[in-house]
Amino acid sequence: MCRTWVVAALVIVVSVAIRVSGVAGRDSDYYLDRWNDKNRGKSKAITPEDPTAQIPSPLLSPWSRLPPGATGKLILTSAATSNATTQIPDDAQLLPPSLVDPPATSPAFRNSSERDPKLLKLSVSPMLSLFNIRRVANTPCLSSSGENGTCFNARECKRLGGVTSGSCKTGGNCCVFQVSCGGLVTQNCTYFVNENYPKPFDGVGSCQLTVNKVNPSVCQLRLDFDSLVLSGPETTDNRCLNDRFTVSGGSSTPIICGTSTGNHMYVDLGRTSNTQAVLTVITMGPAFERSWKVKVSQIPCNTDYTAPNGCLQYYQGVTGQIKTYNYDVSTGLQLSNQDYTSCVRTERNFCGIQYTACADTVNVDPESFSLTGSTTTQVGAVVGQANCPNDWLIIPCLSDSSVDPTANCVDRICGDAFNVREGVTVGDAVLYSFVKPFTLVYHTDDTEGNAAVLESGNRGYCLNYVQQPCV
Ligand SMILES: *[C@@H]1O[C@H](CO)[C@@H](O)[C@H](O)[C@H]1NC(C)=O
Ligand SMILES: *[C@@H]1O[C@H](CO)[C@@H](O)[C@H](O)[C@H]1NC(C)=O
Ligand SMILES: *[C@@H]1O[C@H](CO)[C@@H](O)[C@H](O)[C@H]1NC(C)=O
Ligand SMILES: *[C@@H]1O[C@H](CO)[C@@H](O)[C@H](O)[C@H]1NC(C)=O
Repeated sequence: MCRTWVVAALVIVVSVAIRVSGVAGRDSDYYLDRWNDKNRGKSKAITPEDPTAQIPSPLLSPWSRLPPGATGKLILTSAATSNATTQIPDDAQLLPPSLVDPPATSPAFRNSSERDPKLLKLSVSPMLSLFNIRRVANTPCLSSSGENGTCFNARECKRLGGVTSGSCKTGGNCCVFQVSCGGLVTQNCTYFVNENYPKPFDGVGSCQLTVNKVNPSVCQLRLDFDSLVLSGPETTDNRCLNDRFTVSGGSSTPIICGTSTGNHMYVDLGRTSNTQAVLTVITMGPAFERSWKVKVSQIPCNTDYTAPNGCLQYYQGVTGQIKTYNYDVSTGLQLSNQDYTSCVRTERNFCGIQYTACADTVNVDPESFSLTGSTTTQVGAVVGQANCPNDWLIIPCLSDSSVDPTANCVDRICGDAFNVREGVTVGDAVLYSFVKPFTLVYHTDDTEGNAAVLESGNRGYCLNYVQQPCV
C-alpha cells in the first residue's frame, strides 16, 4: 500500500511539481474553479453531462482524489513535446478524502464564491502543464461475467456496494450491483439473488428486497427473471401455497410460483418520489432447490420503453414470444388467480400483429396454448364470453385472416387449441389482430388443477408474435 503510493508519488513528482494544501471546507470543485480561472484560455469547462470533457488538472498528488461525480481514469498528457501519458490508478485521489463527499445538509460547502482563495497553493512545472481528466459517464455496460452493469471508477463502485467486472470502453470499470435477502436497492440495474447464489437455496424463509427509486423521474420497475426457479403450485387447484414471488408497494401484481426463467414483469410505482417497492420470495413446504436472479431496472416516466398503464408484461420489438408465468410445455402448470394484461409496443409503420402458438415437440397434441379443458380430454378451440366464463385470453378482434381483419373475429378464447373456429377437431392456427394497442388480457379463476377433471394439465400459453406492416 505504502509502496504503491511512493511509486505513484514518484511518477507524479518526476513529471510535475505540484503542491496542494487543501483545507477542510474546500471541495475539489473549488480547486478546479480556481485552476480554471488561472488558466483561462488553456482550459475547458467541465460539465457533468459531458463525459469526455477535458480540463487541465491542477491537482495531482497521491493524497488527493477525483472530483465528486468524476469517475474513471486520469490520463496525464503533456502539452509540450514529450507527450508522455501516464495512467493514474483508478483509485488515485485528487483531494484529501475529507474534502470530498460534503454533507448533503450543507449546500454552502460547495459554494465556491464563499471560499478563501488564499488557501490554495499550486505550482506547476512549465514542462508539463496541461493534463487531461477524462470523465466517464455512468453508462450501461456488459460485465465480463455477462451481467448488465454501469460504468464507474473502481473506488466509486466499491463505495456504492458494487463489484467491478471488466472494463468500460469509455474508461472506468463495469460495476455490477447484486443484493440478497434484506437488501436495499439504490442503483439502477441491481440483481436480486437468493442467499449464496449461484448455489441453490433449500429452506424455509422469507427473503425481501426493498427498492428505492434511484431518482424522481422513475415511474416503473422492470423485473427480468434471469432465473426464477421456485417450487411449483399445489396440484389440486394450482395455487401458490408453498413458494411465492410477490411484489408490494407498487401496482398490484399476481402471486407467482414455479419456474418463470426468461420472463419479466413491470411494476408501476407512480410519480411520487418516495414510493418503495418490496420484492418478496417466500419459500416453504417440501425440500426443493430454489434459485433466483432477478434484474431490477428502473424505468423513467414517458420514455418509449415505459410500459403503458396496466401492462404487467411489455414486449418491444417487431417479433417476440409471450408467455404466462410458470409456463413450460412439459412440466408447467397454469397458475390459479391470474389476472393481468400483456402489451406489445406498436413499432413504427406496423399496423397489425400475428400470433402463433409456440412449437410443442413434447406432446402429441400441442399444449402450448391450453387454458381450459383437460389436456387428457381434448376440447379443442373454445371461443366467446359465454363459452369461456372461467379462464380466458382476450385479444381484440382476433381473426384467422391476414387480409380481412374481421373474418371470424372473436375477442375471447379459451380451450386447448389456439384457434377462433370453435370445435374439438381444429388445431392451432395462425391468428391476427389489427386493433391497436396490441394487448392480451389473461384471466384464470381459483380452480385450475386436478380438483376439476376438465382443468387438469393445462399449461397456460406461449405465443410467438410478429407485427404486420401497414399496407
Ligand atoms: C499528443 O497526443 C495527442 C493524442 O494522442 C495528439 O493529438 C497530439 O498531436 C500529440 N501531441 C504531440 C506534441 O505529439
Ligand atoms: C453562494 O454564495 C453567494 C455569496 O454568499 C450567495 O449569494 C449565493 O446564494 C450562494 N449560493 C448557494 C447555492 O448557496
Ligand atoms: C443487458 O445485456 C444484454 C446482453 O447480455 C444486452 O443485450 C442488453 O441490451 C442489456 N440491457 C440493458 C438494459 O442494457
Ligand atoms: C436504468 O437502466 C436502464 C437500462 O440501461 C435504462 O434504460 C434506464 O433509463 C435507467 N433508468 C434510469 C432512471 O436512469
